[in-house]
Amino acid sequence: MAVAIFLLIIVVGSVVFTFWSPWWFSEIASNWGGIDTTVLITFWVCGAVFVAIGVFMAYCTWKYRHREGARADYQPENARLEWWLTVITTIGVVAMLAPGLIVWDDYVNPPDEALEFEVLSQQWTWKFRFPGADGVLGTVDVANLSLDNPFGMREDDPAGEDDVLVNSAEVHLPIGQPFKVLLRSRDVLHDFFVPEFRAKMDSVPGMVTYFWFTPTKIGQYQIICAELCGMSHHTMRGWVHVDTEEDFAAWFANQPTWAEMRDGVTRKVYTALAQRGRQVAESSGCLACHTLDGTKVVGPTWQGLWGGEQTLADGSKVMVDEAYVIESVREPNAKVVEGFAPGTMITYGADVVSDDDLEALIAFLREDAAP
Ligand code: CUA
Repeated sequence: MAVAIFLLIIVVGSVVFTFWSPWWFSEIASNWGGIDTTVLITFWVCGAVFVAIGVFMAYCTWKYRHREGARADYQPENARLEWWLTVITTIGVVAMLAPGLIVWDDYVNPPDEALEFEVLSQQWTWKFRFPGADGVLGTVDVANLSLDNPFGMREDDPAGEDDVLVNSAEVHLPIGQPFKVLLRSRDVLHDFFVPEFRAKMDSVPGMVTYFWFTPTKIGQYQIICAELCGMSHHTMRGWVHVDTEEDFAAWFANQPTWAEMRDGVTRKVYTALAQRGRQVAESSGCLACHTLDGTKVVGPTWQGLWGGEQTLADGSKVMVDEAYVIESVREPNAKVVEGFAPGTMITYGADVVSDDDLEALIAFLREDAAP
């Protein structure tokens, strides 16, 4: 009897929790209401089965409880019961899967008026690329990926010249405009997901995946990575700003094209030693965790780092000079910057970053901070 009541409490409690809990879908900001509908159909089918099985178990534990002298009846086959269970299960499974197929068909068939943009994912950030005035995205090559060419643009493809490159994890989109989103990955499997859009898609190294959506509500929506992609997967975030058409146009006009980026509109000129330091930073993986543009990723940004002061976790301050940089590479946990966890960075010994490399790296930091 106690077990039967316990089972009933679980069933009733689950139902009450479902209707009274404060957690529900965030307000939708795209055209994908159909995805909510399919999720809800699955939810109701599973919920009904959960309640039916729970109540049936409670009934059986009460009805067939132990009684002196009672004997169990052995009945291994019951064609009628199996027939019914097969029919009901089939209806339930079809009800859950068929709507998903209909929505999926829509999800991967963008309307004719959809414009394109590209999402480039990498450990552990996002970048975006729009076709320029010609409406065509230039071709790319992974072999070209570098600090100076963060999208791997091909020099020999004129269609790429006017591509608008957003070298940041924040992108803007105009409201009401359908977009076909093309996804690329620089390194491992990631998944572009904006919960309010109800839309997500894996980005797979070596191929271009896609889906489409129309932003329907002005606002700022967080991008999260929905595929475990390494130590800092949880920090792989970004923002989509859904703007009015005018606000979007103003933002868009401020983004550099590939031709402008390549021609060094924003690029600095470094000495040969600093240039080598920059390559060291890139090839040793420093830039996966330390940005050059002020963005906080896994470790402190390197923007304006050299010659300034860092506040440490214990509240003390330290000058960023040669001794500090060398120590931070060789013994990263000796001084931990405020707001960052100790043990996040591995130790880089001389076998990985040689003393010469370190000297070049310091030259780069020094020149990068110089106005
Ligand atoms: Cu990228 Cu998780």
